[in-house]
Amino acid sequence: MRYRSVCVHAAALALLYAGVRLHAADPARPRTGDSWKPPLGLDAYMPVPEDNPLSAGKAALGKRLFFDKALSRDRSISCATCHDPAHAFTDDRAAAVGVFGRKGPRRVPKLVNRGYGRSFFWDGRIATLEKQTLQPIQNELEMDLTLDDAVRRLRDSAVYSAEFLKMFRREVHADDLGKALAAYVRTIVSGDSPYDRYMNGNPGALPPEARLGLDIFRGKGNCGACHIGPNLTDESFHNTGVGWGDGEFTDPGRFEVSGDRADLGAFKTPTLREAAAAAPYMHDGSLATLEDVIEHYDKGGEPNPHLDRDMEPLELSEEEKQALLAFLKSLSGKLTDGPATLGAAPQ
Ligand code: HEC
Ligand code: HEC
Repeated sequence: MRYRSVCVHAAALALLYAGVRLHAADPARPRTGDSWKPPLGLDAYMPVPEDNPLSAGKAALGKRLFFDKALSRDRSISCATCHDPAHAFTDDRAAAVGVFGRKGPRRVPKLVNRGYGRSFFWDGRIATLEKQTLQPIQNELEMDLTLDDAVRRLRDSAVYSAEFLKMFRREVHADDLGKALAAYVRTIVSGDSPYDRYMNGNPGALPPEARLGLDIFRGKGNCGACHIGPNLTDESFHNTGVGWGDGEFTDPGRFEVSGDRADLGAFKTPTLREAAAAAPYMHDGSLATLEDVIEHYDKGGEPNPHLDRDMEPLELSEEEKQALLAFLKSLSGKLTDGPATLGAAPQ
């Protein structure tokens, strides 16, 4: 099994952001205090850009926007329509459905621990959450609103006008809309699962079957080659053969961003936290259940010219598949969002 440089990355990130505390001063709001601790199992440092410090007030504003249908052209959907908290901030469809029933090309990813992300979208084409969160508003297959229209609608609201003024010290601006939404997305975190409790000195937290599953995950199953680190992802791109058929890929994936043919059919490794709540799976929603996912890996993925070299047939027994399933289910923990994540009272 190859261990990629995730530990090194974590250390580098920690150094890079050592000065940027999650509860850095916010001129417009009281500090959230020194009480914020990430849930058990997650990195202590979450990278937060210096020009968008996180605070309970900003997370509350972002949360209101996230659930507000006024950000879609016909006021029919909000971010939360697709990223539904009841499904680990995704929905149960294979492909996204936006305004006027318009169907998007990819599955809605769950939004869990994305504050630790290094790039966004299945192909990683966007580098920051501040930029990412403005994309779905403008995407005509999603919310289909120009940023000018979005800003106008918010300026027309006395409540938002006052909130933005207080938070950002100017009238509603698109950049600040992106910042507030990004701040909220950073507060969507999951940790403190049975797996985390087991890893942190509570051997009884994982039943024997899930413990066997963890062994397979790290060993025979080779899952840890890509699903590694506190968030069970290397934040990198791999071809596991999903979407391959009739000699081509339905979606070029990372290739579209890098232009490198080796990246054809490669997608970002998703976190496995809360996976049990987030069916169907993969960028095209083509695998209905976790059992299907395990079968996909057991056969070594879908053979194709660009298949990742860490993919090969596993020959797992029925018992081993069941154990792996039990382990994946043990990655469901405490999912919190908004001011509550920062230890503040919900607003
Ligand atoms: C119509 C459904 C839909 C709506 C509405 C929607 N999204 Fe998404 N979201 C998606 C899809 C689909 C993707 C993945 C697209 C891709 O990879 O090309 C995505 C990706 C994301 C990601 C990147 C996650 C990652 O792991 O890379 C974030 C963050 C996100 N959305 C936040 C938001 C926010 C904030 C809003 C509201 C302003 C929103 N979304 C509205 C469907 C939606
Ligand atoms: C070569 C890297 C790699 C290996 C090895 C690997 N995965 Fe993945 N995993 C990925 C990538 C990339 C995706 C997304 C693929 C896509 O959408 O096309 C993914 C997706 C998943 C998903 C779906 C998550 C979601 O939100 O849709 C699950 C569950 C999963 N993997 C579990 C496993 C298990 C269990 C193993 C070991 C048996 C494993 N993976 C081995 C890279 C890998």
